[in-house]
Amino acid sequence: MDKNKISIVILAAGKGSRMKSPKAKVLHTVCGKEMLYHIIKSSREISNDITVVVAHQKDAVVKQISSYFDDINFVIQDADNFPGTGGAMKNISVKNEKVLVLNGDMPLLTADALQGFLGCDNGIIMSIFDLQNPDGYGRVIIENNQVQRIVEQKDASAKELSVTTVNAGIYAFSKNILEKYIPLLSNDNAQKEYYLTDVISMARADGLNISPLLVDEERFKGVNSKKDLSDAEEIMQDRIKTSLMESGVIMQLPSTIYIEEGVTFEGECIVENGCRITGNSKIINSHIKAHSVIEDSIVKNSDVGPLAHLRPACVIEDTHIGNFVEIKKSTLKGVKAGHLSYIGDATVDEGTNIGAGVITCNYDGIKKHETIIGKNVFIGSDSQLVAPITIEDDVMIAAGTTVTSGRVESGVLAISRTKLRTIKDFYYKFFNK
Ligand code: UD1
Ligand code: CA
Repeated sequence: MDKNKISIVILAAGKGSRMKSPKAKVLHTVCGKEMLYHIIKSSREISNDITVVVAHQKDAVVKQISSYFDDINFVIQDADNFPGTGGAMKNISVKNEKVLVLNGDMPLLTADALQGFLGCDNGIIMSIFDLQNPDGYGRVIIENNQVQRIVEQKDASAKELSVTTVNAGIYAFSKNILEKYIPLLSNDNAQKEYYLTDVISMARADGLNISPLLVDEERFKGVNSKKDLSDAEEIMQDRIKTSLMESGVIMQLPSTIYIEEGVTFEGECIVENGCRITGNSKIINSHIKAHSVIEDSIVKNSDVGPLAHLRPACVIEDTHIGNFVEIKKSTLKGVKAGHLSYIGDATVDEGTNIGAGVITCNYDGIKKHETIIGKNVFIGSDSQLVAPITIEDDVMIAAGTTVTSGRVESGVLAISRTKLRTIKDFYYKFFNK
């Protein structure tokens, strides 16, 4: 694939008012990554020259996208004087003769889906699809088998509104067409905006050829509202899980499982129903049981859950994690933590057993502190380990102990209990039985 043939311009400057959100539309996430991230990722597979047009919340958009990619040209739209998708195309300078323009709110696009636009020679290729419900899209007016113009919903007559062929929002132009027509756009329309789509009717009036390319909604869907966002997420979830299952992951009731874009699996893995696995989690030869949540963590040769929660930065290896166990920023190797524990900022070594209800008290109200637990330690149920603390190898901690000493040496039993008292017949007296 020659990535020097076509330049790509992604429009990401709009307010996105239909999202009803304080956050810029293109920064809303689908499967854990911003919409704009997804579209740039696909774009980079076919082009080395990518321009992103920003305006609304431009600093946040540039900052976020620059954390992923360092080769994007950002151009700031003069959105006050030239609002609209046509206004966004002013002052664009690109390297190649052919230019692909993409709306930034199309997270489902794939590089494959863009192949059909690469053959643009002298005219314009524009994407269209037919929808049962064309609501929100620009209607494509075709007469004499030729695309004549695009009418935005807000400008459309009743007759035009009934047209179900719509503009998907992707166009391939030759550079000279953009240079000629963008300066000629007017904002004489319902939204008082400069519409990129008006280039189509102007070029057509000059006898240029407009080639419609029929595309599928599954990859070309535009996201305007939070409902659209959730629809897009569902489609992308389906793609992610299908591809993981094809590469060997077993999933029970996959429709109930949520797995983000950066998650990887190796070896034989089972994910039971209701699990959520996010960030750059890596699951290797492991069994994730029902309704567990794993955030940005590594799980290797282990079983986790049901109903366990691994918060970011855990490394769990050769370990059994049972139900209602929460772990944060901890490394456990060869450990058993079967029930109802909180383990935070800890390192736990081989052969150690963490009893039910054990808690690392890692936070003193101001700072977080570490807990280090050695090999073959037996921690009795309902113990609290007040950090910072180191428990050396071969230690027993009696059930119900609060360990505060900072260091517990090898070989000892640590026990902190008040002596048990029993008061004879108290029960019968108290309840008058
Ligand atoms: C646009 C098309 C419509 C098409 C639809 C497909 C126009 C005028 N209309 O409508 O025909 O059916 O996409 O999804 O182009 N943007 C800017 N600067 C602006 C305004 C928008 O960069 O001043 C960006 C937005 O950030 C967004 C993209 O352009 O990523 C599309 O804008 P949006 O407002 O979503 O256009 P639609 O109304 O969906
Ligand atoms: Ca849109």
